[in-house]
Amino acid sequence: MSVTVVCPGSFDPATAGHLDVFERAAARFDRVVVAVLGNPNKQGTFTVAERCELIAAETAHLDNLEVDRFEGLLVDYCRAHGIDLVCKGIRGAADMDYELQMAQMNRRVGGVETVFVSASPEHTFLSSSLIKEVVRGGGEVTGLVPPRIAEALHRRLG
Ligand code: PNS
Repeated sequence: MSVTVVCPGSFDPATAGHLDVFERAAARFDRVVVAVLGNPNKQGTFTVAERCELIAAETAHLDNLEVDRFEGLLVDYCRAHGIDLVCKGIRGAADMDYELQMAQMNRRVGGVETVFVSASPEHTFLSSSLIKEVVRGGGEVTGLVPPRIAEALHRRLG
């Protein structure tokens, strides 16, 4: 049986922690779809197309991973693409509270199961929003995002 998982998120932009989860999912599952949420009512730091391009560039070595975008409900995206498994990273208890609630809702409304990957310890403090705050303040983010994403952040916010 071939198993496809979807890794959904805002990824504005993807951090080293997100990329670690993508890589580990790609090692465990037959196919991984990274699905970037586009919210027409919310202007991000990067456009959804830019976020997708950055992730695609950073994951080009993973043959079984593709990047897509979605709007609306994740369960609708899953149904439309014949996917019934979501894969998310968990940094700690705060993530677990929220992610468990979403997982239960997605299972209830769409029959979609969720598997959780524990964040690597060196990534548990990372978030896209904190990284952007550091860049805005002129701080150093080497190692927290790959060089290409750091450059994009500096161009956009620095
Ligand atoms: O990286 P994020 O912002 O924590 O990702 C959250 C995301 C995109 C996975 C979640 O908000 C989502 O799935 N949004 C799509 C709308 C939806 O399905 N909402 C119901 C969730 S139970």
